[in-house]
Amino acid sequence: MRGKRIAVIGAGVSGLGAIKSCLEEGLEPTCFEGSSDIGGLWRYEEKTDSGRPSIYKSVICNTSKEMTAYSDFPFPDHYPNYVHNSRILEYLRMYTKHFNLMKYIQFLSKIRGVRKRPDFSSTGQWDVVVEAEGKQKSYVFDGIMVCTGFYADPFLPLHNFPGIKKFKGQYMHSWEYKIPEKFQGKRIIVISIGNSAADLAIELSHVATQVFLSTRRGTWIWCWVWDNGMPVDTVLLTRFNSVLNKLYPTFLINRWAENKLNAQFNHDIYGLQPQHRFLSYQNTLSDDLPNHIISGRVLIKPNVREFTETSAIFEDGTEEDVDVVVFATGYNFSFPFLENNSTVLDSQLSMFKYVFPPQLEKPTLAFIGILQPAGAIIPISELQSRWAVRVFKGLNKLPSVSDMVADITKKRKKIEKDFLNSPRTSRKVQYIDYMDELASEIGVKPSLFSLFLWDPKLAMEVFFGPCTPYQYRLQGPGKWDGAQRAILTQKEQIIKPLRTRILSCGQPVPCLFRSVCAALLLLILTLVILRG
Ligand SMILES: Cc1cc2nc3c(=O)[nH]c(=O)nc-3n(C[C@H](O)[C@H](O)[C@H](O)COP(=O)(O)OP(=O)(O)OC[C@H]3O[C@@H](n4cnc5c(N)ncnc54)[C@H](O)[C@@H]3O)c2cc1C
Ligand SMILES: *[C@@H]1O[C@H](CO)[C@@H](O)[C@H](O)[C@H]1NC(C)=O
Ligand SMILES: *[C@@H]1O[C@H](CO)[C@@H](O)[C@H](O)[C@H]1NC(C)=O
Ligand SMILES: *[C@@H]1O[C@H](CO)[C@@H](O)[C@H](O)[C@H]1NC(C)=O
Ligand SMILES: *[C@@H]1O[C@H](CO)[C@@H](O)[C@H](O)[C@H]1NC(C)=O
Repeated sequence: MRGKRIAVIGAGVSGLGAIKSCLEEGLEPTCFEGSSDIGGLWRYEEKTDSGRPSIYKSVICNTSKEMTAYSDFPFPDHYPNYVHNSRILEYLRMYTKHFNLMKYIQFLSKIRGVRKRPDFSSTGQWDVVVEAEGKQKSYVFDGIMVCTGFYADPFLPLHNFPGIKKFKGQYMHSWEYKIPEKFQGKRIIVISIGNSAADLAIELSHVATQVFLSTRRGTWIWCWVWDNGMPVDTVLLTRFNSVLNKLYPTFLINRWAENKLNAQFNHDIYGLQPQHRFLSYQNTLSDDLPNHIISGRVLIKPNVREFTETSAIFEDGTEEDVDVVVFATGYNFSFPFLENNSTVLDSQLSMFKYVFPPQLEKPTLAFIGILQPAGAIIPISELQSRWAVRVFKGLNKLPSVSDMVADITKKRKKIEKDFLNSPRTSRKVQYIDYMDELASEIGVKPSLFSLFLWDPKLAMEVFFGPCTPYQYRLQGPGKWDGAQRAILTQKEQIIKPLRTRILSCGQPVPCLFRSVCAALLLLILTLVILRG
């Protein structure tokens, strides 16, 4: 029997995982990629290309490698924990080669239209119009996986900035920014305080005369390098913490986090303290921002009220001369090739588990990677694909339309309650909970109880250790023999690239002995001081 033919749109990290998932289930994928190569956002190009995602040259992946990998393809040992974009691309090339995905991809092929066929209600088939070499061709597919990302359409809110049109300097979106050289000696304002804004302000401050970072709401700043110098996601994203999160009241977690972040530097004094609590909004990851503020290279300012020909006037009445304005104000996203594209856009927040539009007669359209996880996207979009192909094949059934809509409404209410309302947070998911939800559908959620029985050591690591993607390859469909080893060695993998100078105090006993002595000494001293 011929496998179902699936069109995968886009060959970024989500598209590559989608092709691989199709192959795993014996479907026949054809991937259409508008540009000339794989990688999507992670393929750095010197020039921007409208409709394509774009990154600046120095981008480093902000999720650590053990947490970011595809579930059956760990990063090479020697890669650092936080990987430069060129190495992510290198990794994607290795993945593509290893699973032999290249032959399923058609480059320079842009999807122009995706429409239901007249007999859709019985076949679930789609007419797909592809433009290649200036010609349009039409194909029929049994299923569609939309993997087009959402960082290609820069959002420039000029209407919020009176006077920007008469401003004589240069203004641009962060999407256009590539390298710092041509900003030598300029006075620059970066608008907004997301991850990109903080990164750009820091990078530009090394060449600019002065950089201002303008923020309306402020933010909580947290860091890559967490307790004991471990990557923050490997420390916080554990199953154990996920259980604690459910047991502790939100205000306690907020207080714990805010105290911890304020102990690094006082957010109030640094002008960053937001109105919102830690858990209710996307926070900014930046280890370098505080030391750029304290050295005056970056000055925090409030919102800009208006621009004049040569300067910016802020809401507190202060005015600064500036040459360049960089808007790091995020992105719009859309699916221009879909019929009813505007409805799909509006109802984007109403996909069943962010993947399936609930109203279709047949579940043959899946959106992959269109969400904002508080962690790495690869493991999530991979699970979405693994689930979607099972639905395409009929191995998994979706609930009735009304049940799906009820589930969507329930989730949306929870998000509205937990997060500040903003387009960004509406796609935000609880990382482990969401992955487990998808994994349960597929039948690959690690069963802790039976793990404890047959491999307690592994079970401990699964529960207390970082929730790495390998956990979803331990059992069930798509089981990978290397998963157990990958989990048991993940701590070594984190430490290995750091140990480039191995200290001789390697024997644990004398070290332990010394620290016990030190602790005793400290205790005695404290007692003496308290008494005296
Ligand atoms: C500056 C920046 C830093 C980021 N850092 C991280 C990070 O550290 N960790 C993380 O997990 N995430 C990060 N992200 C999020 C990022 O979006 C994801 O990591 C990831 O790139 C999403 O991959 P994707 O495959 O879904 O989409 P993309 O990488 O955007 O790929 C989409 C592909 O689809 C193609 N395409 C689009 N439309 C069509 C069409 N009509 N026809 C044919 N092809 C089409 C495009 O050419 C592109 O190749 C970052 C985002 C930005 C902007
Ligand atoms: C982008 O978003 C803004 C505001 O959210 C909206 O006004 C504008 O129409 C959007 N543009 C497109 C092309 O969707
Ligand atoms: C997408 O929507 C716009 C506006 O509603 C429409 O002009 C365009 O034809 C649509 N695209 C497709 C492929 O249907
Ligand atoms: C587009 O809208 C029509 C009319 O509402 C609907 O019948 C059809 O299913 C929609 N198509 C998609 C792909 O959502
Ligand atoms: C990493 O950076 C991207 C782009 O700025 C952002 O969307 C994402 O939330 C960041 N990830 C984390 C874990 O903060």
